Amino acid sequence: MTVLRQWLFALVLTAGALSGLVALVSLVGLVPNPWPAMPVEPVARQPHIVVVAQEHPHPYWEHVRAGAAEAAGRLGVTLEFVGPERWTVHAHTRLLDMAIAGRPDGIITQGLSEQDFTPLINKAIQRGIPVITIDTDSPSRRLAYVGTDNYQSGLVAGRLLVEATGGQARVGIITGSLHAANQVERVQGIRDAIAPYPGIREVALEESNISLIGATEAALRILEQHPEVSALIGTSALDAPGAARAMATAGRRELVLIGWDDLAETLALLRNGRLYGTVVQKPYEMGVRSVELMVDYLQGNPIPARVDTGVHILRPDDLQAAAGGGRP
Ligand code: BGC
Repeated sequence: MTVLRQWLFALVLTAGALSGLVALVSLVGLVPNPWPAMPVEPVARQPHIVVVAQEHPHPYWEHVRAGAAEAAGRLGVTLEFVGPERWTVHAHTRLLDMAIAGRPDGIITQGLSEQDFTPLINKAIQRGIPVITIDTDSPSRRLAYVGTDNYQSGLVAGRLLVEATGGQARVGIITGSLHAANQVERVQGIRDAIAPYPGIREVALEESNISLIGATEAALRILEQHPEVSALIGTSALDAPGAARAMATAGRRELVLIGWDDLAETLALLRNGRLYGTVVQKPYEMGVRSVELMVDYLQGNPIPARVDTGVHILRPDDLQAAAGGGRP
């Protein structure tokens, strides 16, 4: 080893020993460490949240998507919005199962039936994926529900029917699905609200499969099989628009018609006086609040188990203020 090399070697050793000494002294708190450890950056990863809608694209769920996207943008969330193109329980639950397999940070979905949805929601929870139900609650281990109290909204619609018909009517109900919990609860609410009025009788209940064509066909069946019908009520977003088409086709425009939600076609029906009134939900707010709640949960904050977004009635006279989808 040359003298220079020996000298350098000694210098390195001394520097190492010195820094070790300083670190030791600073460890016992005598002097501040002049060579602090590099600060470790927290992993800056945006939470990935999946919303599984009943159908996508669908005008009602577009309001939910817009609300969820607004909250996601504001809160730094990567949002994935999926749904079957045409709704069947199978297509819907398959997408939910695929969402679970993708192990996102959170899932927002409906709990349409106990049989099909509860086991999947519980499976997600078991795998450590938090689930918030939206629009339709589920008896499951979901963290929270954000949406309408569907039974209460049925009572609201039933009372509207009493008001519209003066307590005398033969009623046909068109419902999104005979097995979806939100639809079953709405129908039950309508039945309970009209029960004290012997002049009002339900004569038919038909399924639309939440499609415009399905609703039109369901209403046509009712009009054909029950010509005595004097009022129709549709319990999912496209049921009244479908029924209005059927009423026009069958030349029965005089029927009292009541619907749900405030999609563009529904607002047009109100405007031209073909719809007596509609029970308006707040899908935009459902989207906003469900994402906000999920982010709160992921940040370790306590969240409420239930957020009732509420409904209100829209009659032709109230139209000025209507924005659609419960948007602010
Ligand atoms: C319901 C949704 C449904 C939609 C279908 C709404 O009234 O709340 O669950 O997907 O109608 O049009």
